[in-house]
Amino acid sequence: MSKLQLKNIHKNYGTTAVVNDLSLELRQGELVTLLGPSGCGKTTTLRMIAGFIELTAGAIAMNGQEISGAGRTVPPEHRGMSMIFQSYAIWPNMTVAQNVGFGLDVRRTPAAQAKRRVHEMLEVVHLQHLAHRYPAELSGGQQQRVALARAMVVRPEVLLLDEPLSNLDANLREEMANEIRRLHDEFRFTTVYVTHDQSEAMTISDRIAVLNLGRLEQIDTPWNLYNRPHTPFVAGFIGRTNLVSASLRAGRITLDGLQGEVPVEQAADAAATGDARDRADARVSIRPQSLYLGEGAPVAPGALPMGPVSVVSRTYLGEYWDYVVQPLGGGETLKVHAPPSSVLEIGHQSQLSVDPRGVAVVS
Ligand SMILES: Nc1ncnc2c1ncn2[C@@H]1O[C@H](COP(=O)(O)OP(=O)(O)OP(=O)(O)O)[C@@H](O)[C@H]1O
Ligand SMILES: [Mg+2]
Repeated sequence: MSKLQLKNIHKNYGTTAVVNDLSLELRQGELVTLLGPSGCGKTTTLRMIAGFIELTAGAIAMNGQEISGAGRTVPPEHRGMSMIFQSYAIWPNMTVAQNVGFGLDVRRTPAAQAKRRVHEMLEVVHLQHLAHRYPAELSGGQQQRVALARAMVVRPEVLLLDEPLSNLDANLREEMANEIRRLHDEFRFTTVYVTHDQSEAMTISDRIAVLNLGRLEQIDTPWNLYNRPHTPFVAGFIGRTNLVSASLRAGRITLDGLQGEVPVEQAADAAATGDARDRADARVSIRPQSLYLGEGAPVAPGALPMGPVSVVSRTYLGEYWDYVVQPLGGGETLKVHAPPSSVLEIGHQSQLSVDPRGVAVVS
């Protein structure tokens, strides 16, 4: 039995479908992230799970019991869930310890037990030494940890986190993302996590649900989303990519403007989608780091020759060169990542090759 199940849920505001036929299942102890651009319906979905917003259609079940649906809506305070809101708030007039203990007071937990649990939880988030400080005396990351501790101390059935790291700078965000994953490995609360940041999602999640315009594009492990994207949107949202027109014939992919072919069974998505029907209007995702520039034969093991290209523009990013190349046979320009030592001038002609594992048919 799944811990939490969303069954074809819809939310309309007027005639606008903000969440459109979304189905998801979380196993006990699983951390699933809702990932997508601003306005795609992440917060709305989380609030429906928490019971703050009614569904237009569909149902939500927890432990096999319906908690939201046509006939019945269990109020938020009876769902056993904890939620951190997007604009997370900790009470400024309470100390760290009082903030963390608040949910236990509301649940009338005996004082000695509450004190012990607050103390344990502050240790978990490394804030025991700040228990008597007020929020104004804490850094952003420390406040965020208070919010997390407050949500987890009540041992929720389901933990709902709406962009809990959005107010932090990049370094602290990465540190806190690793911290949340560590806490998850320790406590295994079934968790729905919301973010629009793909690297944060990949750090934290067991599985990621990619949403676009209120619809589920794909739910999968971080590895599969990157290596086996099913749609152009997923390929473009998770990491950088080239979306190229192609035709499929007799199990071979011909990329527009390029000379070579990629056997479908060598491409990354063959096993996942199985969509190798012959057609002239396919779209293919090719990762920039799966393309190579060199003279003569392919420079990487297993790479397939794709013909000549010339360098149109280039950007040095320290860890790699970001080249844009134009196939001499026409077709769309391509982004190619090359090692820092691979210095090519604009206008330089080179032979392009591709590692077929970085190629995925996405439509
Ligand atoms: N009460 C409301 N009435 C009308 N439209 C709403 C309401 N609440 C949200 N929306 C619209 O629903 C869409 C989804 O909103 P939601 O807050 O779920 O997005 P989100 O994915 O969380 O975005 P963000 O990443 O910016 O937080 C948006 O276009 C928003 O304007
Ligand atoms: Mg939101």
